Formats: sequence, C-alpha cells, structure tokens
Amino acid sequence: MSEPVLTELNNGVLTVTLNRPEKKNAITQAMYAALAEATNRARTDDAVRVLLFRAEGDSFSAGNDIADFIAIGQSGGGQVIDAPVFHFLKALAHLDKPAVAAVRGRAVGIGLTLLLHCDMVVVADDALLSAPFVNLALAPEAASSLLLPMVVGHQRAFEIFALGEPIDGRTAHAWGLANRAVPSDQVDATAAELAAKVAGRAPNSIKKTKRLMRDAERLWALMQEEGEAFGSQMSSPEAMEAFMAFTQKRAPVFG
Ligand code: COA
Repeated sequence: MSEPVLTELNNGVLTVTLNRPEKKNAITQAMYAALAEATNRARTDDAVRVLLFRAEGDSFSAGNDIADFIAIGQSGGGQVIDAPVFHFLKALAHLDKPAVAAVRGRAVGIGLTLLLHCDMVVVADDALLSAPFVNLALAPEAASSLLLPMVVGHQRAFEIFALGEPIDGRTAHAWGLANRAVPSDQVDATAAELAAKVAGRAPNSIKKTKRLMRDAERLWALMQEEGEAFGSQMSSPEAMEAFMAFTQKRAPVFG
C-alpha cells in the first residue's frame, strides 16, 4: 500500500502530497503525524526554503477522517492536546518559512483552514471549498475562527461556518483566500512555479517578513482554545448523530 502522505525535497521546495485519493484525501491521525513531521522539518531543515501542499486525485482533502471522529467521540476523550492533529496545528502556527498550496476539487474542513496558514494559494476555478463544522455539530479549528473572518469578513465567514455550503475557486480568489484561480489542469504547475520563485528569494528576509506578518503564539493559543470547544462538541450527542448520518449516507436529524 502506498503512503498516504508523500514528501519530496527538490531545489529547496519540500512538496507534501496528500495521497489517499480513494477517500478524497480525508486525513487520519497517522496522516496528521506525517504532516506534522514534514511541517517541522520545513521549519528546521536549512535545505527547505518553501513548503508546498498538494494532493493526488480529484480532491485536495475531504477534511478530518470521520471514522476517526467517531472513534474519538465514542471514547469520550474529545480532542487531546497531544493528539497528532495538534502537533500539526502547532507546527503550522510556528512555521516561519513560506507555505504554498495547490488546490483542486474539494477542500473541506481542515482542507480549507490549512489554506489560511499558507502564504500563497492557487485554486482551481472550479474547486469547492467548505468548512462544514456546524453541519457536523463541531466548532471551527486551526485558528480559523480568527483567520477566516480576517480574510473574508465576518458575515462571509459566518455563512461558511454556519451553513457549510461550498464556495468555488473563483469566489475564493475574489474574497482574498487565494492568490490565483486557474483552470484545474494548471493548478500544480502554477503553484510549483510560485514555490520555485519564492524559494529563490533571500531566505532570512522571507523568514523575517513572515514572522512579522503573523503572531505564532497567539495563533497557537487560539488553536488550543478552539480545541476545547471542538473537543467537547465531538463527544456530544448532536455530533455523534452528524457523524453517523455521514457514514449512513443520510441527512442528520438534530433534536
Ligand atoms: N472521512 C472519512 N471518509 C471520507 C471522508 C471523510 N471526511 N470524506 C469522504 N470519505 C470517503 C467516503 O465515505 C467514500 O468512501 P466509500 O467509497 O468507502 O463509500 C469515499 O471517501 C468517497 O467519498 P464520496 O462521498 O463518495 O465522494 P463524493 O465525491 O460524492 O463527495 C465529499 C465528496 C468530500 C463532498 C464528501 O465525501 C463529503 O462531504 N465528505 C465529508 C466531508 C466532511 O464533512 N469532512 C469533515 C470536515 S470537519
């Protein structure tokens, strides 16, 4: 079986590929661990100038693996701060080198909120981005409760969270979530080109620029705060109903 997360370092660009296309690149705990390792490597390895996220298959990512949500919810544990997902989030918050994303197809949940930590985002015109946390009776994560309204404005962000309906790539670009919206077959090449360009810039200058633009400690503190709301919702009856409805391919019924 091939690895669900692949990494490759080439000319200063560490490419991380989500490689679970048969499940629309839904992210398991093991995949979060691999993503955390790659993101930490990007920060600490001098050979890495830029981190590039991309995906195999027709979707960037269907978000957190819902079978994992069920297992964690049923264990009653909620989200624990030493879970692999938090290792990844912490690594993202503290990453001080540029991150680029190449997004085709669906980007759901963390598939969208990850983009808020990328410095350059290329989407397909017809990509579909959504954050259906409320549909799953959960709460926003990855500091998206701050970053999404900051990028798109409160009302648009609220609608994205509360209704969970996707926006397409053109809209994402118009709303400031992406640097470029291009035809689907040009996404990888466009993102690779941007990544190569940034990799050629003065590395310390880029690092200082990025550090000045984001408050890593504030983002990490917020991620942990969000994790409490997310974790307590995860073991709630309304979330269990939403997860079961997904696996049974039916609409959820809340109360
Ligand atoms: N967790 C676990 N499995 C998932 C998944 C997820 N988040 N998203 C998709 N899959 C699985 C499906 O169960 C299906 O598996 P199967 O072939 O064994 O039945 C397979 O991936 C293909 O998904 P499918 O739903 O048939 O594809 P689609 O093109 O009709 O729809 C999505 C794609 C992304 C719109 C849809 O799969 C979806 O809504 N997924 C859930 C997204 C979500 O809510 N994520 C959590 C965010 S916090």
